[in-house]
Amino acid sequence: MIKTLREYIREAESKKIAIGHFNISNLESLKGIYEGAKRVGEKLGYKIPIIIGVSEGEEDFIGINKVVVLIKEIRENDNYPIFLNADHHYSFSSIKKCIDTGFDSVIIDAVKLPLEENIALTKECVTYAKEISKREERDILVESEIGFIGQSSKILEKIPDGITEETKTKPEDAEYFVRETGIDLLAPSVGNIHGMLKGGNPNLDIDRIREIKDKANIPLVLHGGSGISDEDFIKAIDAGVSIIHISTEIRIAYKEAILESLNNNPNELAPYKYLNNAIEKISDVVEKRIRLFNKL
Ligand code: G3H
Ligand code: ZN
Repeated sequence: MIKTLREYIREAESKKIAIGHFNISNLESLKGIYEGAKRVGEKLGYKIPIIIGVSEGEEDFIGINKVVVLIKEIRENDNYPIFLNADHHYSFSSIKKCIDTGFDSVIIDAVKLPLEENIALTKECVTYAKEISKREERDILVESEIGFIGQSSKILEKIPDGITEETKTKPEDAEYFVRETGIDLLAPSVGNIHGMLKGGNPNLDIDRIREIKDKANIPLVLHGGSGISDEDFIKAIDAGVSIIHISTEIRIAYKEAILESLNNNPNELAPYKYLNNAIEKISDVVEKRIRLFNKL
């Protein structure tokens, strides 16, 4: 019997490990992520929980109903702890649609709004998630963020405009935000950025993570995982991070693998043949990340 996502997160918190959250745009990325996760678990003799994320754009591309069916199919047929998250959704209506369609968790991203408006929108999502959870005997988790960390999962020349020491999450704001909204998970700004900097990502502010965890007292989610050093990941987990998001590294693996396949076999026409390399390379990225997040 598969535990709920909330239970897996609690378990991660107490074991001081983190659950990997990986974004997908298509079937190949899902296959690669699932393969990577299964590989780690098979060597250990247990199934490692994973979260699959789709942003609004990724969800539109796959199709909202299809992505729910894909994840449920793995969870129910393979009895595998895989969960679906609505990653960075910007309105109540898009969050509601995900909840209604069967997502396990949602992230309302209202960081660009003034704090009180962010609180009001987040609260609306929390209230709806609670109402549906009760009515349908589900346990839908709501995550929200304060403090800016940029927006795109891509290769960056420089730190995106608008990210400064000032836009890091303040521990007292985190405490207030969690109390006011009743969210289940908090995504702070602690030196992390969405995307990968060409010259290497900055170090995380580990003391800030610890202070936020102390004040917020709920599980923390580290976004912008691509490009963060192994040492910083471990320190961040020890300081209170329970979920880590990776997207850019998967996108890079996918693109480079397809370029390599087509370069090596320019006459290959069957997608299921030249895409196999992409699945394999994504599974390698995920295996490596899961090993680290689980301190293996
Ligand atoms: O929500 C998605 C992420 O936070 C991914 O960030 O592209 O830097 O790995 P990343
Ligand atoms: Zn993110």
